[in-house]
Amino acid sequence: MNGMSEMSQSQAPFMFITDLDNTLVGDNDALAMLNHQLQQHRQQHGTVIVYSTGRSLTLYRQLLTEVTLLDPDFLVLSVGTVIYPKGSDMPLQDWVNYLSPGWDRNNVEAIAQAFPDLTPQPDSEQTQFKASYIIDGKSAKTVLPQLKTALQEAKLDTQIIYSSDQDLDILPQRGNKGAAVAFLQQHVGMRGDRTVVCGDSGNDIAMFEAATAKGIVVGNAKPELREWYTTQATADTYLAEADCAGGILEGLRHFKFVD
Ligand code: GLC
Ligand code: MG
Repeated sequence: MNGMSEMSQSQAPFMFITDLDNTLVGDNDALAMLNHQLQQHRQQHGTVIVYSTGRSLTLYRQLLTEVTLLDPDFLVLSVGTVIYPKGSDMPLQDWVNYLSPGWDRNNVEAIAQAFPDLTPQPDSEQTQFKASYIIDGKSAKTVLPQLKTALQEAKLDTQIIYSSDQDLDILPQRGNKGAAVAFLQQHVGMRGDRTVVCGDSGNDIAMFEAATAKGIVVGNAKPELREWYTTQATADTYLAEADCAGGILEGLRHFKFVD
């Protein structure tokens, strides 16, 4: 018998991929406990820690001044469109090359500008493969379908992601948080049943839809993700009772990734 088959599941490595705002971050006591468990698991079993956030590098660095986070093995920024391996100050070029075909940021911006209900987010959040705006939930219901049509008519390969009743991201068709999960599974060589994704809002849905991973929806999830959970989730996705890092720990135990 080889060691792996005798090893309990909670002692085998896994890839832990989590959103930051209101998922990993939001309850500092629970975060400290989770950090401790994950750090140990990484040291003892080689577990891979990935943060996947909507934030740009600028806003990620700002968050690091506010909370204590482990140094991740991969940092996925700007809603899945930028991937940094640990210790590198250059994003993975393979991912840039994959996202580039068909993406025309200037044209995307020009089309979005025609919609007065869209207010551009700060410059730091306008990145190579992400154009971001603010729009309230009520206006979004009528404007987003029109925006989608306008982008399609201009033959732009894009996708629209709406989160937390305010944030609108326009991304290349090929890139979102879910696509980044699939890429990292390949890159690291981690199977779906040894991958777990955690989130709380609209831009996380793509990670839960990445067919071959376990999912943890934290207890404080936003309505758009709850709705997805109610209508589309399978047994591979767990809705936690606890909020934020406490919900993640609950889910990791539910799936037996940790004891
Ligand atoms: C983060 C980003 C913002 C984005 C939002 C939702 O808040 O800073 O640009 O719109 O996530 O994805
Ligand atoms: Mg979030």
